[in-house]
Amino acid sequence: MKHTKVKDLLSSAPALHEVKAKGWVRTFRNNQFLALNDGSTINNIQCVVDFANTPEETLKRITTGAAVSVKGHLVESQGAGQKVEIQVTEIKILGDSDAEKYPMQPKKHSLEFLRENAHLRIRTNMFGAIMRVRSTLAFAVHQYFQEKGFFYVNTPIITGSDAEGAGEMFRVTALPFDGTPRTEDGKVNFKEDFFGRETNLTVSGQLEGETYAMALGQIYTFGPTFRAENSNTSRHLAEFWMIEPEVAFNNLADNMDLAEDFIKYVIKYTVDKCGDDLKFLEQRLLDEEKSKPQAERSEMTLLEKLSFVLDNNFKRVSYTEAIDILKNSKPNKNKKFQYLIEEWGADLQSEHERFLVEKHFKCPVILFDYPAKIKAFYMRLNDNTEPGKETVRAMDILFPGIGEIVGGSQREERYEVLLEKMKALGIDEKELYWYLDTRRFGSAVHSGFGLGFERLVLFVTGMSNIRDVIPFPRTPQNAEF
Ligand code: 4AD
Ligand code: MG
Repeated sequence: MKHTKVKDLLSSAPALHEVKAKGWVRTFRNNQFLALNDGSTINNIQCVVDFANTPEETLKRITTGAAVSVKGHLVESQGAGQKVEIQVTEIKILGDSDAEKYPMQPKKHSLEFLRENAHLRIRTNMFGAIMRVRSTLAFAVHQYFQEKGFFYVNTPIITGSDAEGAGEMFRVTALPFDGTPRTEDGKVNFKEDFFGRETNLTVSGQLEGETYAMALGQIYTFGPTFRAENSNTSRHLAEFWMIEPEVAFNNLADNMDLAEDFIKYVIKYTVDKCGDDLKFLEQRLLDEEKSKPQAERSEMTLLEKLSFVLDNNFKRVSYTEAIDILKNSKPNKNKKFQYLIEEWGADLQSEHERFLVEKHFKCPVILFDYPAKIKAFYMRLNDNTEPGKETVRAMDILFPGIGEIVGGSQREERYEVLLEKMKALGIDEKELYWYLDTRRFGSAVHSGFGLGFERLVLFVTGMSNIRDVIPFPRTPQNAEF
């Protein structure tokens, strides 16, 4: 007999025929009530074990974490909260779990402890919920773009280019098996690099994505990206997943429309599909909030926050307006916000972004037209800006509790202007000849953006540390898996 997923059993009506389920024991009470979870849903199915007719030896082996197979009848449940349960006729232990040694005890563990056990934390309700939500969001990303006629492009992971010009890259070196090449003083000889040239793990697929947009019209990437920034924050990972759409003939306003529509679509899709998981995560957040002083507690629950984003337009504000708001706002005079926003041209720090979103506008904000000096080389220079106050058609989307979730721009489509900019920044035009070719042959206005997938998962799950929304976080301390 084939086994049925717990999710499907829980939505079935009681029946006379036998059913079979396989999963892991969450708890086992009174030698009788087994809470079985198989990962298909956050909910366990209660299995009532016939202890009088089950060997003592087997009963002893029904421990938290053990893998079991149960056969029995699906009957109406007497217990609160579930319609059906399994009246067990046969139980088999598939894999024992030593109750003394199993790290995932049925109690509340700290997030720190769970991070150290990333391979087992997925067996908790919280991580089950987060990772099902993550998977659903990923599916929604593909569905959105595929429905709109975008093509999925896989851009290189190993690359010779530095797309963001920020230099925060992991170097890729091909070391021969027969001994690492060393210089005379014993150091690794990095001249022996990948195919004899310097290569890195990609920081963004954008530049390659642009070449595809200039042929297929509308494309998106969705892949791993790497940044060697040593930032120990709750918003940065060394390895994260990014979604980068790129569209020929779109200007900055079209780009903003696309980003807003896309984000709302994937959130709505996930709210509709992941009700049980989101309800659980909402309750977790409420419990967490209770430990905070009243004044710091969120006014909205998780699901209210998600519907708020769906029901309201993102506020579009220029960088210049944002600077004026920050300069004139009271928190700017407090110690917390007093530094940096002294003049136009400064880069915004996350505290400034969060002030704009959480205190001033109280909704997602799209900031645009940033000073050229603080943004990447490929962004379209605005016409008619004052010398010294040049701006580019950049846009960042800021989210409550997260800060920057999207970074994007209209691209510089004019060959001469792009070349000048590259020269001024010391970017080798020979290295990027292929990128310049898109401007040399059939250039056109085009735009795109990058959405940090984990930051989106953070927002939707209400978690507060980015290490808790990716299966195996790569941070400066953590790389053993
Ligand atoms: O703003 P960023 O650096 O933009 C780009 O890479 C552009 N090439 C995107 C484009 O226009 N196609 O990164 C985009 C987004 C950020 O807004 C943020 O959400 C996320 O990627 N991100 C990170 N997420 C986790 N950890 C990090 N270290 C991140 N760095 C950026
Ligand atoms: Mg950015």
